[in-house]
Amino acid sequence: MFISDCLDVNQAGHLTIGGCDTVELAKAYGTPLYVMDEDCIRRALRDYKKSMDENYENGGMVAYASKACCFQELYRIVMQEGCGADVVSGGELYTAMKAGFPAQRLYFHGNNKSGQELRMALEYGVGRIVVDNLTELSLLSDIAREMGKTAAIFLRVTPGIDAHTHSFIRTGQIDSKFGLTLENGDALQAVRRALETPGVELRGLHCHIGSQIFDEEPFIHAAETMLDFMAQIRDETGTTLTELNLGGGFGIRYTDQDHPRSCGEYMRLVSGALHRRAEALRMPVPYLVIEPGRSVVAPAGITLYTVGAVKEIPGVRTYVSVDGGMPDNPRYALYQAPYTAVAANKASLPADRLYTISGRCCESGDLIQENTPLQECGPGDILAVLATGAYNYSMSSNYNRLPRPAVVMVRGGEARIAVRAETYEDLNRNDL
Ligand code: LLP
Repeated sequence: MFISDCLDVNQAGHLTIGGCDTVELAKAYGTPLYVMDEDCIRRALRDYKKSMDENYENGGMVAYASKACCFQELYRIVMQEGCGADVVSGGELYTAMKAGFPAQRLYFHGNNKSGQELRMALEYGVGRIVVDNLTELSLLSDIAREMGKTAAIFLRVTPGIDAHTHSFIRTGQIDSKFGLTLENGDALQAVRRALETPGVELRGLHCHIGSQIFDEEPFIHAAETMLDFMAQIRDETGTTLTELNLGGGFGIRYTDQDHPRSCGEYMRLVSGALHRRAEALRMPVPYLVIEPGRSVVAPAGITLYTVGAVKEIPGVRTYVSVDGGMPDNPRYALYQAPYTAVAANKASLPADRLYTISGRCCESGDLIQENTPLQECGPGDILAVLATGAYNYSMSSNYNRLPRPAVVMVRGGEARIAVRAETYEDLNRNDL
């Protein structure tokens, strides 16, 4: 009935997630509230892993991209499922380490890592540092030598694939702040440099072509392009790199207009393409890393709000104000991102009204969705916005000095707090 299989409606006509009544959750924990279904997250991770094991002969790693949603309990779940993680800052790295995440299974990304962050990564023993550019390569080399260590690295390559136009326009993607351009020879030059740089050991290559991609073609094209480049490296330098990280980007269902493939389906297609290409190039099939973020956590999450004022402007539109908004979900304000919303306490009624859901910030653009179908709403109703598990909590802010909501994990009808709600005291902790 809903866009995610962790959601249902109970006899009271209330929306449920992970077997918990959302109206009861709102009552117990207050709103706004992030709720995440633990089993849904575990299922996605298992689906990726299973597909990797079944379709990929040379083994591989599913590394959850923790920028999608980052807190300690999530790292514990990812760790228990035997997966790795992609971290992109000292803050994410620190959170992972606090959760006891095995450092060897971490991939450290970012286009402008600081010396302090690189030092931190080397101290912890992060598995692979994904070097973005030559400035970082020499900074890392200096730090590693000073610490008497060798950093195992990947180089981030921009393979010139514009996933969102479906046309693989090359010039479009040359214009990226990330990585080393393949097309103009920068990437090959960086590989040569890395191979002769002391303090680093080049293990493989990385690319990431975008996010919320439905079509499998760009993923396949990227995998083949990267393998071709690995063959070129072998031919021109004599070095055979053995690891390939293809990033994330797999699309999910935000509305019933979206029709993504299942998690494992992408893997099956990409694995098939890689095996065929490796054989044609007489290359060993590389150890494969993928970094799904959104598709692991987005479908597992919802955000609950309480409706306040409803304002009808005849002939224009009707606003439903909720007690959160762009600080807990900036994605509509930033990208006009589509979402599905449900009146959680009236979930079995028809969604036959059109409402614009507005947040509580002093800003006209503080909207969650415009003219979206909903059950008739009034003050005190509980509104659920679906598929908010990715890039909501992790992109939240304290705009208007609003405290961040709690994150509650649900599983088998039980709920527990994974991240406490911020208090006004928290907001003032660093004020002098
Ligand atoms: N690996 C790398 C190197 C990435 O940069 C990203 C996402 C991922 C993996 C995970 O991609 P995913 O599977 O989640 O699509 N804030 C935007 C999304 C930005 C994604 C940035 N990189 C949003 O809210 O839509």
